[in-house]
Amino acid sequence: MRRNGWLLWLLTLSGALGSLWMVFHFSKPKTWQVPADNLNYSWLEYPDADGGLEKVCNCTAILEGDREAVAQAKLLTITKDFNLHYQIPDDHYIKAAQDCRKFKLSGKYQTFPLSKEEEDFPLAYSIVVHHKVQNFERLLRAIYTPQNIYCVHVDKKSQASVLSAIEAIASCFPNVFLVSHAETVVYSAWSRVQADLNCMADLYNASTKWKYFINLCGQDFPLKTNLQMVRTLRSLKGGNSLESEKLPDAKKWRVTFVYKIVGEKLQKTSKKKTPPPFNLPILSGNAYIVVSRGFVRSVLEDSRIQVLIEWAKDTFSPDEFLWATIQRIPGVPGSKWLNPKHDMSDLNAVSRLVKWRLHEGQQDSLEAAYPKCEGNHIRDICVYGAGDLHWLVQQHHFFANKFDAYNDPIPVYCLEKYLRQQALAEPH
Ligand SMILES: *[C@@H]1O[C@H](CO)[C@@H](O)[C@H](O)[C@H]1NC(C)=O
Ligand SMILES: *[C@@H]1O[C@H](CO)[C@@H](O)[C@H](O)[C@H]1NC(C)=O
Ligand SMILES: *[C@@H]1O[C@H](CO)[C@@H](O)[C@H](O)[C@H]1NC(C)=O
Repeated sequence: MRRNGWLLWLLTLSGALGSLWMVFHFSKPKTWQVPADNLNYSWLEYPDADGGLEKVCNCTAILEGDREAVAQAKLLTITKDFNLHYQIPDDHYIKAAQDCRKFKLSGKYQTFPLSKEEEDFPLAYSIVVHHKVQNFERLLRAIYTPQNIYCVHVDKKSQASVLSAIEAIASCFPNVFLVSHAETVVYSAWSRVQADLNCMADLYNASTKWKYFINLCGQDFPLKTNLQMVRTLRSLKGGNSLESEKLPDAKKWRVTFVYKIVGEKLQKTSKKKTPPPFNLPILSGNAYIVVSRGFVRSVLEDSRIQVLIEWAKDTFSPDEFLWATIQRIPGVPGSKWLNPKHDMSDLNAVSRLVKWRLHEGQQDSLEAAYPKCEGNHIRDICVYGAGDLHWLVQQHHFFANKFDAYNDPIPVYCLEKYLRQQALAEPH
């Protein structure tokens, strides 16, 4: 049974470190204080020996961009059934999360804030998921801290096992909850935005403490530790960080005709749309944003934005213009002036790093914005391979898309180890 080898290993470790955990758990004071000198964080480390992957690939070398190590990793990923050894079925999570203490310990979830600075700057996450629970769980593990708050939107059309597994995982954490109203998400349609709006409303209502909102999907993975994100966010001084640029002519059709859902697909109709309310200029961006609590309040309460939202509901891919447009409305907290000097590209925003096939290439080419994808493409977006990691960790973005541990377990495995090492090396 290689399949759950690394998990078994972690479960064994959890027994051994159980008593250490008890010391942490029961000595955890109500307010943050420097842990006693005789305690250390080693139980949170992802050690080299966990689960066999380290035996077959050298993450340190891969992250340094070592050609040989990358080539070896690539060879593994094309080896028949290699990835199958590391796939975890949804059922596993339903069972594993019955014992929350063990589940958190074996997943090495952080059970206390690593610093006062982080504790004083909580973040709110909206995570939209529809399948592949293992990707979601690895993501949650990588970003989980007790002071943050997490709303999970499981697509209404997801398989029952996906919902059950995610419910089971969420039940282990007081600050992870399922959205109060789930949508059936149709690709490129309004429902994608509505899913985030539902989480925004729940998060806004659930806690008054969080300072910034970040939305994610199951195939995102962090490139930064929680402390690194907190420090960058503080440096924004209330500003938001998201793509917001001039709408290219080639995308104008998205807002000039009425679209409606036929069957499970979005279809163009012959009806023309009225101009946007208040003559708001429509800007171009993407679905993933890093925004202040004030921005979220405006989205939920500003009457101009409510009118814009109603107008956007029958357009094509409103997720790729709504946030970008709101970011330029005067009076919205953290927004920017309309003048194109304030335009922000996806590469300059911190929210999300995506490698589009169209912009891959050589540094000396005018079209290329980044090196070629070292994994494979899905809908012209790179699903990262080991060879992308060296480049990825040098970027300033908080998160990158897409990762898929089901197809290639190495990138997620190496990144989670790298981030945990960094988090534990940071000053506590
Ligand atoms: C931390 O604890 C682990 C396990 O209890 C121990 O092996 C290690 O030597 C300790 N490290 C330090 C720096 O005290
Ligand atoms: C992994 O790579 C690093 C950096 O290239 C090297 O120092 C280390 O010895 C390697 N580890 C193994 C087990 O080969
Ligand atoms: C917040 O939640 C409470 C309790 O469920 C509910 O009564 C209230 O209407 C909610 N407020 C908002 C603004 O959603």
